[in-house]
Amino acid sequence: MSILYFKKSDERADDKTVNFDSVMEEKREKGLLRVLLIGSGGREAAMAWKISASRIVEKLYIAPGNGGTENYGINLPRVKGSDFESVAEAVRQYNINMIVVGPEAPLVEGIVDWFEERREQFPDLEIVGPNAAGARLEGSKAFSKAFMKRYDIPTARYRSFKPEELELAEHFLDTLQAPYVLKADALAAGKGVIIAEDRTLADKALQELFAGVWGEKGQQVVIEEFLSGRECSMFVATDGVHYTILPEAMDYKRIGDNNTGPNTGGMGAISPVPFVDEAFVEKVKTRIIEPTLRGLQEDGICYKGFLFLGLMEVKGNPYVIEYNCRMGDPETQAVMLRIKSDFGRLLKALATEQLDKYDMETDERAACCLVLASKGYPGSYVKGFEILLPEPSLDSIIFQAGTRRTDGKLVTDGGRVLSVASYGSTVAAASGRCYTVAEQILFDGKNYRHDIGKV
Ligand code: AMP
Ligand code: GLY
Repeated sequence: MSILYFKKSDERADDKTVNFDSVMEEKREKGLLRVLLIGSGGREAAMAWKISASRIVEKLYIAPGNGGTENYGINLPRVKGSDFESVAEAVRQYNINMIVVGPEAPLVEGIVDWFEERREQFPDLEIVGPNAAGARLEGSKAFSKAFMKRYDIPTARYRSFKPEELELAEHFLDTLQAPYVLKADALAAGKGVIIAEDRTLADKALQELFAGVWGEKGQQVVIEEFLSGRECSMFVATDGVHYTILPEAMDYKRIGDNNTGPNTGGMGAISPVPFVDEAFVEKVKTRIIEPTLRGLQEDGICYKGFLFLGLMEVKGNPYVIEYNCRMGDPETQAVMLRIKSDFGRLLKALATEQLDKYDMETDERAACCLVLASKGYPGSYVKGFEILLPEPSLDSIIFQAGTRRTDGKLVTDGGRVLSVASYGSTVAAASGRCYTVAEQILFDGKNYRHDIGKV
């Protein structure tokens, strides 16, 4: 086993002189980055904004993109992340030398492996994202829970069960107290977690999970202890050898004010998170990040990309609620505002195992992101309403998500339509700016929470 060398973001190397000059030199030889960003949400809009501002990026394509990403690059609406042939075709046609994968599905489906297997056809192509083995940390709850247990990473006590083990599952529920947490083993776009308030609801959820109502039929189900505490999201960029931590964030998952109503993909986010202090980050590094990266290496998994830690703080200590193999949405819309350094260089360093030479500089200002959704989301909703946007301002950016351009008009095309991300001297100030802009954005059925950033 090779030795895992961790370079922490706050412990800079003394040899700064060899850092980006050499990367720049290499870049001059090979040319600037021609990036293909895969995805179509607000997360990708925020990444596209930051990538397009990079001094080492020559060209940016977004596949398929949305009505707003064309402000930062060229949309390729016919290229789909899960159709690898279509991605390869775009790589050839546009002479792409870096693919950045936004959402989890293509990663779990093995887009990185697919291109690696065809390395001779794409000798100069870099891909930012983990391979399928690494993406299992998100793709399979049973795998990620077993991984955490194996490497002694703090997480809720759990067991996983196959459909034929219904009785054992019931016995395990007997050992826990309400509320009960049940998770489908497959990717379920945020719908795979059920928190059952009482035992009757837990039994019903268990049967539904095994029947494939939530996820795939015949899947395993993870049952775990309920952790009570405060949640936050931390993001690690790793090149497989070194890592750096991005600004942390907290998202607001429920649709309604004061965390009421059904879960959504996220209705807003803030960064920084008030309870995340240096001592907490240190615990996350030593108890979670480093054992995770060491564990991946011991398992023979070379993980290159972003690792998203969904954490619960319980009495000052961090526990992993979940791993994701990508950045968060809408957290990224707040996090990108707080990254002061060149994001293209981060991607380049990540792809070329030079993360130890990258200086992660954070903006001192706070950021808040407010999601504007279609009426009815996260249930069914009507699309196609015209959207009117205010003039751009320096302190607030509108990142589009579920939007589309049709006959010269911008129209709604999804549940989470767009988000407003603002800077402020404090989270509350940033939040205030988001609400001012949100009022100026007009479309039928506009719905948003009123308490984002009012921590
Ligand atoms: P996930 O889809 O895994 O992010 O879970 C969705 C939400 O369910 C999380 O953000 C938590 O709020 C909640 N959750 C998941 N697992 C647990 C747990 N073990 N204890 C308490 N809450 C949980
Ligand atoms: N906002 C949570 C996620 O991206 O999974």
